[in-house]
Amino acid sequence: MASYHQINIHDRQNNTHYKVQVPDDRYILHSAENQGVELPFSCRNGACTTCAVRVLSGEIYQPEAMGLSLELQKQGYALLCVSYARSDLFVETQDEDEVYELQFGRYFGKGKVQVGLPLDED
Ligand code: FES
Repeated sequence: MASYHQINIHDRQNNTHYKVQVPDDRYILHSAENQGVELPFSCRNGACTTCAVRVLSGEIYQPEAMGLSLELQKQGYALLCVSYARSDLFVETQDEDEVYELQFGRYFGKGKVQVGLPLDED
């Protein structure tokens, strides 16, 4: 038998607060949608980070969140499309592209980029 947890979601873009009851064996995003709560998503399989939230309190389990580095998971980010609740939770939606920028932004503009043909070495 699944046990249920209460998920408090602050959708910061729409300044809306939701409360949903979610079984611990179902993805949070899917359960929220079944209760009429529309949240950002795209791929639905843990790859794109569109559904990322900051976990403010509570425990979440996301073994399939391959799009999110372990570092960011430790910092309290989660992908709701592949997350299970392990306790009652308070979460808030990320800024647009926040997680993407945190993961990949720091690599922009670094390193050597070679454009065109290799230079003659003589
Ligand atoms: S919707 Fe793409 S990671 Fe959740």
